[in-house]
Amino acid sequence: MEIIAAMRERRSIRAFLPDGVPDETVIAILDEARWAPSWGNAQDWRVFVVTGEALAKVKAGLADVAGSEAPPAPDLPWPATQWPDYLASRMTYRRPAPGAAPAPPLRPGLTDVYGAPILLLLAADERLSPAYSSYDAGLLTENICLAATAHELGTCIMAMLVRYPDVLRPVVPAEGLRFVIAVALGYPDLDSELNETKRERVGLDEIVTWVK
Ligand SMILES: Cc1cc2nc3c(=O)[nH]c(=O)nc-3n(C[C@H](O)[C@H](O)[C@H](O)COP(=O)(O)O)c2cc1C
Repeated sequence: MEIIAAMRERRSIRAFLPDGVPDETVIAILDEARWAPSWGNAQDWRVFVVTGEALAKVKAGLADVAGSEAPPAPDLPWPATQWPDYLASRMTYRRPAPGAAPAPPLRPGLTDVYGAPILLLLAADERLSPAYSSYDAGLLTENICLAATAHELGTCIMAMLVRYPDVLRPVVPAEGLRFVIAVALGYPDLDSELNETKRERVGLDEIVTWVK
């Protein structure tokens, strides 16, 4: 698939088919994605492919915290306590910062990872700055999403699923690592309305300034 087509076709998938994804396909996607750039070529990312019984445990743990009063405690600071109005007006999905009262409950669809058979957890060494290690992980993340699109798979990048790292740590061997982001991966349910939500982008005039 042509790269520009993949960039335009990729969209967040919020309803997956239960069908499993062959290990070879996941390996191919990660093998392609690892050519992402990183600071000094440090490749300062770790990817956990969580599936099967381990994913069932993560889903159960997330469902438990969703039903509790436990405050979120993500390894990375949330982007903003209050989004500036001009950014808030663009946002389709907007949630208060962790710690802001009341903490938003995790929706059932979320805790089920939208039905995806695979959850990728991206992590970075906790000795690095959260800013640039997350920047690098972000580049890998988009490569994963584009490669998945080329393999006719769907993805959803999900910060909400790393809000409770204590749910993940008993299942995933992530000692010394910070959870940066989660990516749901699987075959998209093309009949679901959840995958037809309108997506917009602001015009270049709002984000680009030419300085000649
Ligand atoms: C850092 C980051 C965190 C995100 N977290 C979530 C999430 O927790 N749940 C979710 O459903 N979508 C999440 N998304 C997906 C965004 O909502 C989505 O990318 C945006 O609305 C644009 O839609 P599109 O991906 O379909 O183009 C996240 C995206 C990014 C980049």
